[in-house]
Amino acid sequence: MISMKSVSHRKGIVLAGGSGTRLYPGTLAVSKQLMPIYDKPMIYYPISVLMLSRIREILIISTPQDTPLFKRLLGDGSDFGVQFSYAVQSRPEGLAQAFLIGSDFLDGSEVALILGDNLFYGHDFVRIVESAAEKRQGATIFGYQVSNPNAYGVVEFSEEGRVLSIEEKPDHPKSSYAVPGLYFYDGKVTTYARKIRPSARGELEITDLNKIYLERGELRLELLGRGTAWLDTGTHKSLLDAAQFVHVIEERQGLKMACLEGIGFENGWISTETLERRIHFLGNTGYASYLKRYLG
Ligand code: G1P
Repeated sequence: MISMKSVSHRKGIVLAGGSGTRLYPGTLAVSKQLMPIYDKPMIYYPISVLMLSRIREILIISTPQDTPLFKRLLGDGSDFGVQFSYAVQSRPEGLAQAFLIGSDFLDGSEVALILGDNLFYGHDFVRIVESAAEKRQGATIFGYQVSNPNAYGVVEFSEEGRVLSIEEKPDHPKSSYAVPGLYFYDGKVTTYARKIRPSARGELEITDLNKIYLERGELRLELLGRGTAWLDTGTHKSLLDAAQFVHVIEERQGLKMACLEGIGFENGWISTETLERRIHFLGNTGYASYLKRYLG
C-alpha cells in the first residue's frame, strides 16, 4: 500500500483557452489542448505538473464551446484523485484574466497557473516546482534559455538571479531567457490582477501581473537548466516536435510521461479499486496495459 503523499494548500489553474488560429484548420472544431501529444491529450501534461506539485484542487478554464469537451474528457477528477472545477473564458482576453474568472474558486488562496499547451520534463523539475509550491509569499516565475526569446515573455536578471526587467515579446530581448507558462502566486494575485489594464493587443498580460510583483520586490526567479525540457505547441512544427519528444523518451525508458492515473495512485490519492475500474474502462489499449503495472 502506498502511503498518502502530502497535499499542497495551493490551488491550481490550467488555462486552456485561446482560439488556436495558428493551427487552423486542425483547431477549427476542437481545442488545441484536447489534441493528442503522442499518446494522450495535450492537457494531461500540464495537469501532471500540478499533481506532481501535490495540488489537488484544479480549475480548468476554456472557451464556451470547448469547456463541455474538457468535462467529458476529465470529469470531476475522481479517476485521478483530484477535484476538477470548470470555468469559461468567453473571449481570449489574456492569461491574467484567469485570476478574475477564478476569483471565487481561489477565495484568497495561493495558486499555480499553468498554460494548457506547455509541456515540461526533467528530473530536477519536480523538485524545483515542489519548492516553488511551498513558498507562501510573493510570486515565482521561471527562466528558460531559448533560441527565439522574442516569441515569449523575456526576463532579464542580475548575476545573483535578481529580476531586473520582464518584457512581453520584445523586439530587442534583453536576455535569451523566456518565461515559461507556469507561475506560482500568493493570495494577493486576484487583487493585483484587478489593477491590470488591457495591453495594445487587448489582453490582460501575465507579464504585467509579474511586473506588479517585481515592483513590490516580491518576484522570485528560478532558472530551469538544460536538464529540463520545456516545449510549447503553438505551431504544427512544435506540436510534432513535442509528440516526437514524448515518443522517444517513453519508448526508451518504458515509462509514460503525464500518466495522471499513475501519478494519482503513487500520490496515494486513488485506491486500487479506482485504478482497476479505470483500466477496465480504457479497455484494450496500450495506456490501460501500462496502468496495470501499478497494480504490482
Ligand atoms: C504567453 C505569455 C508569455 C509566455 C508564454 C509561454 O504567450 O504571454 O509571456 O512566455 O505564454 O508559453 P502566448 O502563448 O499568449 O503568446
